[in-house]
Amino acid sequence: MDALPDELRLEGDRVILRDWRDEDAPALAPVCGEWDVCSFTSVPWSYSEAEALAWVERQREKRAAGTVLALAIQGRDDERALGNVNLARLDEGAREAAIGYWLVPEARGRGLVTAAASLLIDWGSANLELERIEFAILPENLASQHVAERIGATPEGVRERSHEAEGRLWDMAIWTVSR
Ligand SMILES: CC(C)(COP(=O)(O)OP(=O)(O)OC[C@H]1O[C@@H](n2cnc3c(N)ncnc32)[C@H](O)[C@@H]1OP(=O)(O)O)[C@@H](O)C(=O)NCCC(=O)NCCS
Repeated sequence: MDALPDELRLEGDRVILRDWRDEDAPALAPVCGEWDVCSFTSVPWSYSEAEALAWVERQREKRAAGTVLALAIQGRDDERALGNVNLARLDEGAREAAIGYWLVPEARGRGLVTAAASLLIDWGSANLELERIEFAILPENLASQHVAERIGATPEGVRERSHEAEGRLWDMAIWTVSR
């Protein structure tokens, strides 16, 4: 796989995906402490500007290391970061990756993640030669499973006790999309 680009901007009909910037740090505040976000990502459990800046910096470091490609999701008509979408496990080869995403609460319910994840998957297929992208979702997270379904992913069953969070192991519903 080629190195991940230092800069990336993807434009779709409904969303723009672009690099995280230091000035986006306050965008993390509404999801800091939210269980569905913090148990599955490195977003801090409580907000401080320093922690949020460190999170943004970690996204740059992971990109440089070739492990994770994270992009801020913004709408078409305003520059604010409304959420994150990423491809992870890019260093494991085999033309596979895992996808993750979150939106701030005010941006949910409008299909923005479906648009953002589709755009990133299409880019990853074309530019990183990815052939299989995996979603690992808590079985009760129906909104996220709807996103996977809308994108054309197929349910592959439950991977038992496969995610560690909050001191216990959680079953995860696995969906995959092949391109
Ligand atoms: C999961 C998440 C990304 C969904 O993004 P979204 O843009 O708000 O998704 P949408 O509102 O378009 O909902 C997607 C689908 O799920 C459905 N849905 C939404 N909430 C639902 C719920 N509580 N129960 C059942 N279905 C639900 C919607 O109707 C929609 O279906 P449709 O496309 O057939 O109309 C967003 O809720 C979020 O950021 N949650 C917190 C973080 C998280 O859970 N991330 C994923 C971890 S795997």
